[in-house]
Amino acid sequence: MAACIARDGRRVLTALLLLGAAAPALAGPLPLVPAPASVVAGSASFTVRDGTAIATAHGDAAAEAAARILITHVRTERGLALSQTSGAAPITLVRDAAIAGDEAYRLTVTATGIRIAASGDRGLLYGAMTLAQLLSPDRAFGKPVKVDAVTIEDAPRFAWRGLMIDTTRHFITLEAIRTIVDQMASVKLNTLHLHLTDDQGWRFEVKRYPKLTDVGAWRTPPSSGGTPGARVGGFYTQDELKQLVAYAAERGITIVPEVDLPGHAQALVAAYPELGVLGDRPEVSPDWGINPYLLNPGPKGVEFVKNVLDELTAVFPGTYIHLGGDEAVKDQWERSPEVQAQIKALGLKNENQLQSWLIEQFGNYLASKGRRLIGWDEILEGGVPASASVMSWRGEKGAIEAANLGHDVVLSPAPTLYLDSLQSDRGDEPPGRIIIQSLESVYRYDPMPAGIAGDKAKHVLGAQANAWSEYLVTPYQVQHAMFPRAAALAEINWSPKDKRDFGGFLERVGPQIERWKRSGLEVADSAFAVDFKVQGSRGDALRANKALIALSTQAPHGTIRYTLDGKEPTARSKAYKGPLSLVPGVTVRAAAFDRAGNALAAVRSFDTGRAALLTRTASELTGCPSGALWLRLPLTADATANGPAYNVNVFDTCSVYPAAPVDVASGFTIEVARLPRNFGLAHDTGKVRRHYNVTPHGELIVTAGCPVSGDDKAAKPTPLGTFPLPDPATAPARFRVTGTLPKLEGDRDLCFQFTSPISDPLYAVERATLTETAR
Ligand code: ACM
Repeated sequence: MAACIARDGRRVLTALLLLGAAAPALAGPLPLVPAPASVVAGSASFTVRDGTAIATAHGDAAAEAAARILITHVRTERGLALSQTSGAAPITLVRDAAIAGDEAYRLTVTATGIRIAASGDRGLLYGAMTLAQLLSPDRAFGKPVKVDAVTIEDAPRFAWRGLMIDTTRHFITLEAIRTIVDQMASVKLNTLHLHLTDDQGWRFEVKRYPKLTDVGAWRTPPSSGGTPGARVGGFYTQDELKQLVAYAAERGITIVPEVDLPGHAQALVAAYPELGVLGDRPEVSPDWGINPYLLNPGPKGVEFVKNVLDELTAVFPGTYIHLGGDEAVKDQWERSPEVQAQIKALGLKNENQLQSWLIEQFGNYLASKGRRLIGWDEILEGGVPASASVMSWRGEKGAIEAANLGHDVVLSPAPTLYLDSLQSDRGDEPPGRIIIQSLESVYRYDPMPAGIAGDKAKHVLGAQANAWSEYLVTPYQVQHAMFPRAAALAEINWSPKDKRDFGGFLERVGPQIERWKRSGLEVADSAFAVDFKVQGSRGDALRANKALIALSTQAPHGTIRYTLDGKEPTARSKAYKGPLSLVPGVTVRAAAFDRAGNALAAVRSFDTGRAALLTRTASELTGCPSGALWLRLPLTADATANGPAYNVNVFDTCSVYPAAPVDVASGFTIEVARLPRNFGLAHDTGKVRRHYNVTPHGELIVTAGCPVSGDDKAAKPTPLGTFPLPDPATAPARFRVTGTLPKLEGDRDLCFQFTSPISDPLYAVERATLTETAR
């Protein structure tokens, strides 16, 4: 009976009435993310106001830290100044050895005060974070808050509730990391995986090998971006990282450092070519993707890694050390007589077994220091050492296999838990991978894969989401990718499975988004922003001079309200009931509002003017002939400002303006952006579709109907123009071409094919506009 949450309050009430007792009920769901395991309503309430004090036992440093963090959150999120004392006070943080589990807590609100009890440090902190959420249930600021009496008993479902920051592809400052740490704690995430080394940068100071950071932490931006001679990068000193470790620990967060090997080693080989395989002296890579450089698996490579681990473990005290293992194409090992001799001498069959042998050396070394190795699921390929844990990213298969073999596993499957996946197809999303993973997709993921045997379920440590940073450059972009999906991640990791409810989550995440915004965080509103769709073809709308515009939001939440008079929509504006029939020319402005009348997202607008209906922007284009555009890229790979983004397919630089109403148009304007082509494609290089150029820098070929590859001869493209591309060394990165249209019938797909050499650069259509025939 006690284990009922508020959302099921009616069930509790019914049961108690059947027993002949009157039970108190909460007015509605508590504004808590993640949802707690158990909530039981009490009677009465307690009001917290400016000056209300929090008592902690004298000398209980963790309780004092939890109180301090609570005070900071409440000041920022509610505008109330609480205080801390070791005397008596209405809010108390107390130890209770009877509460089992370091992260478990009980929070009790009565008429006389609020008591948070836990046996462990994290339990006290999580009780405090729950209280911070109870004290900011709405958007009121600086006002006392009445908290209804309640008893919350709470503990997590999973022990590893993680986020990964990729510090390598783009360096991120410690200040930006601390901001994320603060807000991880607010939703009870407890593991921060720092990806510290990769082809594009080595970020961890190693005193014994200074060139790792003198050389390996810096790279030259790719050809089309940055200033010639510029360097981008950075690294963290050991002292700085120790401070970060302590800061995170105070917030209940363990940092798991990753040194990625034997692949993703180009920055290491750039710094110390002798630790590579074939004697090459590469630069630190400016290319995303998969590069060929591998760690030397011989004695000098093994000794190097052990020396690095000595320094790494002295900085990071947590149990787990991540040693990568992903995407190591083995070409260099295959080509090296020394490595082949090593494979033979060790009695191994192939390069995958050599990788496993290496992992075993390091796993044993870490075990000798009382630590544990974790690696990406490729470490399973040649047989994984018994002590290793596995982080499954290529779907769940690795986790299922490893857990069933008795290894601990963390679920981090791409693309669902890859936060560089865009969260909507909106034209205002910042860069990322165009494989949409919405707030709902993350929420619906369950970290317990079906294929894991019941008795092996204990090996599932939890789930982690990864913010790979090839396309996440600014702190704004990193935060936008992480929040609010981090709230969904927190709930799937923390809350009991039977308490999961997406509708309820959407109600509860609203206040959390507000808290995050008050903390200065960039929080994506993609799930709640209004989308506009022209129903039927745009051509039909233009021909009939009547457009039917449908409004929707990605997440089914709130009421959409709109205006047609240019004013900002408010909670009193007209509610959207169905598609709007409009004469082209009107601008629709809309936002979704919650029951309390708060806008759930920034207002979005849609111009139904004829010129706008004849225009398609990058995010409205598709691939050729019918493929996906799969990356959304910034203009320069290392852009430090938030700017426009362009959808491309790096395997075929061709895109389509679908169903263009060519019959009403007499010309076209195409705005083009030139981007760096900085992709290491390894064994996929041959998949790039080459279109032969006739002028030195290639051409943009525009056709009505798309030329098709292979044996599909169905489409018969009509040539509309061939435009030589300018010299990338001298021409601006954005330019436009214009052309005239012959008389064509109805709607046709307009195809934009670039024939520039495939080495560099990469072109994208930013915007294509048809010019209307005079009517
Ligand atoms: C990975 O995404 N290469 C782990």
